[in-house]
Amino acid sequence: MLVLGIETSCDETAAALVTDKREIRANVVLSQIDEHAPYGGIVPEIAARSHIDHLDGLIARAMDDAGATFADLDGVAVTAGPGLIGAVMVGLMTGKAVAAVHDLPLSAVNHLEGHALSARLSDEELQFPYLLLLVSGGHCQLLVVEGVGRYKRLGTTIDDAAGEAFDKAAKLLDLGYPGGPAIERAAKNGDGTRFSLPRPLKGRAGCDFSFSGLKTALLHKVQALEVGLDDSLRADFAASFQQAVADVVVDRCQNAILSFRAAHPEGRFLVAGGGVVANSMLRARLKELATANDLSLALPPLALCTDNAAMIAWAGIERLNLGLADDLNAVPRARWPLDQNAAPPPGVGRAGKLGPKA
Ligand code: KG4
Ligand code: ZN
Repeated sequence: MLVLGIETSCDETAAALVTDKREIRANVVLSQIDEHAPYGGIVPEIAARSHIDHLDGLIARAMDDAGATFADLDGVAVTAGPGLIGAVMVGLMTGKAVAAVHDLPLSAVNHLEGHALSARLSDEELQFPYLLLLVSGGHCQLLVVEGVGRYKRLGTTIDDAAGEAFDKAAKLLDLGYPGGPAIERAAKNGDGTRFSLPRPLKGRAGCDFSFSGLKTALLHKVQALEVGLDDSLRADFAASFQQAVADVVVDRCQNAILSFRAAHPEGRFLVAGGGVVANSMLRARLKELATANDLSLALPPLALCTDNAAMIAWAGIERLNLGLADDLNAVPRARWPLDQNAAPPPGVGRAGKLGPKA
């Protein structure tokens, strides 16, 4: 089975061709960072227009890379949410058009399911159920993945997502966007013990996250400096911040492992997905955690951690294999939680206004 994957939920335009034998025959990603940089953040309207400008060309390139034509396809998988609504619409309409013209089954994929299943694309040994840490720019959750489409949320962030915290910290330190890779680069030369920063919720029961206090503490420390920021201070701040995030994530994961074990004594895997999993310190800390708990760790390679269309194609393959095709009425969704039954996180009002983006 050869499936075309399309991803346009945020600021990356992406197309990929993947087979049900886990062969990634093409995987192209075009970042819009330079287009948004002058505005200091992602501008939804620019994102949508840029996807329109580039998506057709990117699909043609993916076809070319794979040496395939539309006639070779067995299905189309496209992100239908959650994300910037205009951006999602561009990809979804394109995916529907390809499916309609070439009479192919369509899979309208939840972007988070793409992240959740991405480790199964790179690791054929990975079996359900597994414990999943999903940490990206818009999301920070711990979930039990019982199967395709079967997710139980154990915890989520009550304020910022982990990637969002990295991005805000990097902005504060004048390190540029996206913040995660910038903080990681700067931290390489830094002393992670130089600045003492809080570890929000560490040692507390449950699996929820909080990062806004950490970001504010960093802001106060930077403001309290009697000298301007230089590269050495930036490196020490970046290393101290990264260390604090990793400590919090590992602490929350440890609680989640206990809950996972209680519900699924047969579960053997700790899995992570999302852009923040590209962080090498976090990868190393998760490895230690898995070993200490006698779990196998499954981490996607870096190219499958940050947003890409191969993970969307793969999620589509998993769904199509189960007969879960969608019709051409599939709607774009700005919000789309993986666990539809999860209660709002503590501190979130009935309208969910303070909640995470899905
Ligand atoms: O999964 P992703 O590409 O997009 C979303 O679905 O949100 O995640 C992007 C996030 C950004 O916040 C970025 O700063 C973060 O992932 N990120 C990292 C690293 N690479 C990307 N965070 C920490 N360390 C990294 N190396
Ligand atoms: Zn993502």
